Formats: sequence, C-alpha cells, structure tokens
Amino acid sequence: MQTIITLPAACDFHIHTRQGVLMEMVAPRIAEGGVSLCYVMVEPNLKPPITSTEQALEYKAQLERLAPNVTFLMSLYLCPELTPEEIRKAKKHGIVGVKSYPRGVTTNSESGIESYAIYYPVFKAMEEVGLILNLHGELPSDSDQQLHNDFPKLKIVLEHATTKAAVDTVKALGDTIGCTITIHHLQLTVDDWAGQCHNFCKPVAKFPHDRQALRDVVLEGHPRFFLGTDSAPHPAYLKECAHSCAGVFTTPLAIPYLATILDSFGAINCLRKFACENGKKFYGVNEEEGKYREITLVKETLLVPHSYSFDESVEERRGSIVPFFAGKNLTWKIIN
Ligand code: NCD
Ligand code: ZN
Repeated sequence: MQTIITLPAACDFHIHTRQGVLMEMVAPRIAEGGVSLCYVMVEPNLKPPITSTEQALEYKAQLERLAPNVTFLMSLYLCPELTPEEIRKAKKHGIVGVKSYPRGVTTNSESGIESYAIYYPVFKAMEEVGLILNLHGELPSDSDQQLHNDFPKLKIVLEHATTKAAVDTVKALGDTIGCTITIHHLQLTVDDWAGQCHNFCKPVAKFPHDRQALRDVVLEGHPRFFLGTDSAPHPAYLKECAHSCAGVFTTPLAIPYLATILDSFGAINCLRKFACENGKKFYGVNEEEGKYREITLVKETLLVPHSYSFDESVEERRGSIVPFFAGKNLTWKIIN
C-alpha cells in the first residue's frame, strides 16, 4: 500500500545559505527540499559579517531573487558594534533575531569568566522589541543561565542541541526558551563521523543515549523543540582534506531525509509538529503573503545524488558538494 502525507511546507529555523556561486546553487534547492520558510544564519562565514539592518536586507534581497517563493527571515550577528538603536531599526525592518557565536562572548580578565556584560544594553532593547537571541551552545552555560534570569522575557533559542543534557535543560526552562534540532543529529552518533569526513559537523554528533533524547523529544511533540537543519555546505575537497571543514549539507532533500529518519523510529506522525508548526509558533512568524504552500510526500525510494555541482569552471571536487547520505536510498519523496 502506498502511503501519502500532505502537510504544510516545512520551516527551517537554522540554515546556511552562503554567497556567490554556492548561494546560487543552494537557494533554489530550499523549496525543492520541501521548505517554504527559513531563518538565515549570518555569521563570520559571510564576508563581510552581517551586523547591520541594511546588510541583512541586501542579503535577503539576493536570496529572494534566487528563491522567490521562500520566506527568508534574517538575523544579525552579535558583535560589539551592534547598538540598541540598530536593534530597534532591525525590528522595524522585519529582522527576527541576533545570533551569538562563542567568540561574541567576552572574557572577563579578572575572573576568567565569560560574560555577556557589554551586550546588556543590546539585550534589553531586544527584550523590549521582541527580537530572538540565538545561542550557539552545546549546553546553556552559566552566563546563558544568568542572561535568562536577567532578561526573563527575552526569547532565546539554543541552536542544534546534540545531548540529553541540553534537551533536559531546555525542557526544564520556561516558555521563552526554544531549541532547534538538526536532521543529521537525529541520525548520526560518534561512530558515524569518526571515520567519515562528510558526516563531520559542529557540534559533532554524540552518543546513542543523546540521540535517543533528541528522538524522544520529537516523539513527544514538545512545542519548544523544532527543526533547524544547520545545513552547511562546503566544497568536497575541503571536507576531504586533512583538516576537514565542519558541516553537513541537507537543504536539497531536507524533508525527504527527515521523513525517512523519523519513520525509522516510529515518528512519521511527528513530522508536522516538529517541522511545520512548533517553530512558527515559538517565533510568532508566518510565510510572507502568497508564499504558504503544501507538500505531498509518498513512501517511495529516492536515491540521494553523489554530489551537487555549483561551479563547472573548476575541478569537480572543488566545484561540488557531497550531500548527507550521498548515494543512499531514502524511503520518502516529495511529489509536488
Ligand atoms: C557551520 C558552517 O559551515 O557554516 N558548520 C557546522 O558544522 N555547523 C559553521 C559552524 O557552526 O561551525
Ligand atoms: Zn549553523
């Protein structure tokens, strides 16, 4: 018997879309992967890093030209140049949040403790206008906990949880704390990346009991946990060299991968909440006018390509990306 599911196109609350020819390959594949809304991570990988509203809107416009049917929500990068005025301006122009990387946290020279102290005026403005703070943490640190205590109304998302400890911590916190989980962390454990550079990402996949905690929270349908793929493409040769770049590329087949993996542990019925509903509710966002659509999935074999080319003018390993599960079969595909 053929199994068919129709559901809203999904939301990816953590995606890396890159620049130049790589962006030109990636952006049109977001919709192909079954996603209609995504939250774009800006970061030191982008040159220059996106720290102003103008830069974020210019980047959004570039993405929209390549993928007119996708809603792109934009973020800014937390850095000392960011001001409370810029936060208010960002909010007015539809920017959704601010991403903090570990290096955004300054070290207090006397105590040696990492502190967000210099950003408190920025966080206060974010709390007032309702911008989200995205934390790139393995586990909420002491300074993250302090931040939450000091700004109880500031919505915070712990990005790409990989451990049972992180899941337990987020669950124990209140309604203002959300958490993204990637597709690949629902599948991989330490053994999968130890000998396979293409599965190497940051944060790295952990132990079977950690993966089980991620799967359990999806099965539970917990409303504050939602999809953020952290899809992060790097050219094949940079993944295959001695100091492999971190990142797994899932954008082109995001929802077929996710449906396949969820189905493998009895969670296909959790796809809708995890990938289509929870994140939108937490963020309080929706597709832009005319960009909402539905997707239909069928339970049929789908072969994942060995690579996606983004630059024909250079040698093949330099101009292509190896996707997650390359050369393997998925059990679900999108038919519309
Ligand atoms: C990210 C990327 O390549 O943009 N890679 C990843 O494995 N998540 C960068 C990073 O967060 O290290
Ligand atoms: Zn990321």
